[in-house]
Amino acid sequence: MTGGTFSWNGRDVAFRAGESIGAALAGAGVDALGHDPAGRATRWFCGIGACQNCLVRVGGRLVEACLTPAEDGLVVVSADVAEEIDR
Ligand code: FES
Repeated sequence: MTGGTFSWNGRDVAFRAGESIGAALAGAGVDALGHDPAGRATRWFCGIGACQNCLVRVGGRLVEACLTPAEDGLVVVSADVAEEIDR
């Protein structure tokens, strides 16, 4: 597998083969991933799927950015972004 590009809140983000969505976003300088239901900013924290602070929405599903492999053509949005732009 080679790298590619996925969409993050409407912006193209390049990734290298084997990178997670979270790693690619961090590499692209994206620190803020969104807000949790209490309105607190979310971001990459533990990197191992334990904190749930990196949830993003892919295809309408919430996934951990730190654990989910980046794939070419994925549409990824902040967890708190309306699903309409996910399509
Ligand atoms: S950074 Fe903690 S679950 Fe992803």
